[in-house]
Amino acid sequence: MFHIPVDRRRFFKSMAAASAGFTLSGYLAEALTATPSTTQGPYYPLADDIPLDKDNDLVQLNDNLTSAAGVITYVTGRVLDTNGNPIKNALVELWHADREGDYLYSNGVGRNSACDANFAGFGQMLTSSSGAFKFRTVKAGLYTGRTRHYHWGITVPGRTTRFCTQTGWNEVAYNLTGQQWATQNSNDNVFSTVPAGQRAGLLLDFAAVPGTTTGEVQATWDFVSGYTPVEPTYPNTGSLTAAGNAVAGPVGGNPRYKITIPTYIGYTYEIYGNPTFADLEWRALPFAMSQTGGIDRHKHTATSEGTLSFYVEAKATKGFYQITFRPSGANTGTP
Ligand SMILES: [Fe+2]
Repeated sequence: MFHIPVDRRRFFKSMAAASAGFTLSGYLAEALTATPSTTQGPYYPLADDIPLDKDNDLVQLNDNLTSAAGVITYVTGRVLDTNGNPIKNALVELWHADREGDYLYSNGVGRNSACDANFAGFGQMLTSSSGAFKFRTVKAGLYTGRTRHYHWGITVPGRTTRFCTQTGWNEVAYNLTGQQWATQNSNDNVFSTVPAGQRAGLLLDFAAVPGTTTGEVQATWDFVSGYTPVEPTYPNTGSLTAAGNAVAGPVGGNPRYKITIPTYIGYTYEIYGNPTFADLEWRALPFAMSQTGGIDRHKHTATSEGTLSFYVEAKATKGFYQITFRPSGANTGTP
C-alpha cells in the first residue's frame, strides 16, 4: 500500500536523493508548502566584499592552493513551485560564516580580514532545467547569538524580489572545542520563530558522502517557491537572466557591460541589476544601445527580430542581470 509520510518535505527529499533527475512535474495534485522566509540577516555581502570567484564552490577560492578550512559539505536540491514543477534559471545564492564564525562581510574596504582567506564566503548558481542546484562549501561556524546556519537567497525568473531563508543542522551544535553551544535550534532567534510545522524543512540532516573517508558530508534540500516564475517563453511577458561581458566604455570613461539576448519585434526590454544589501528589489538600470553611445534609456522596444545588445555601466557585482520583456501593447511602464 502506498503511504505518504506525514512529513511531505522529507518524502520529497528522499525521492530526490534516490532518483536523480526524476521530475515531479504534474505528479501531485496537492500543493507543496512553500519554504518559509526568514530574515536576510546583516551579512549579505556588499559589492566590495565578494571575490571574483563566486561560483557554487565556496571551498576553492580563485587559484589558491589551499582550500577553505572546515568540514567539506555539499548541499544539493531543486527549486520547485508549489505544484512540484521544477523552476529553471532560478538564481540561488548562498553565503555563510567560515569555520571560525566569520563572514566575508565588511562595511569597510574589501572583505573582512578575519575571514578565512581561502573561503569564498559567497556562491551562486542558476538552476538547471530540472530545477537542480548544487553547492560545495564548508560547515558553517558558530558566532555569538546564533546557532549554526546557512543563508540562502532565491530569485525566480520574472520576479524582482530576492527571497531569503536560512537552513540549519538537525543536530546539537558544539563549538570547535567540543562545548555545547548556548544557542541551539530551539532557542535560536531565527529558527524558533518559524512555525514548528515548517521548521523541520529548514533543519537539514547531513550524512557522510558515500565512498569518502575524508569526512565530507551532504544533504539534500528542495526549496519550494511561493512565487510562480514567469517563464521566458514568447509571446508572454517574462524575463531572462544573463551575464554581462565587460567591454571598453567610451574613451576616458568607465567600462561597460554588454548583455546580448534574442529579441522579437515589438517587445519592450528592460535591464535590472542585482539586488543590493539594503534593498531586496532588483533595480532598473539605464543603458545604451551601443558600446559608446549615451546611457540614455531605461527601456527599449525592438523594431526587428534577431539579437540585440544592451550596454550598461552598472557592474553586476554578483554576476547576473535580469532582462524583462513585454509583448507589444502591454503596459511598458516600469513594473
Ligand atoms: Fe548569519
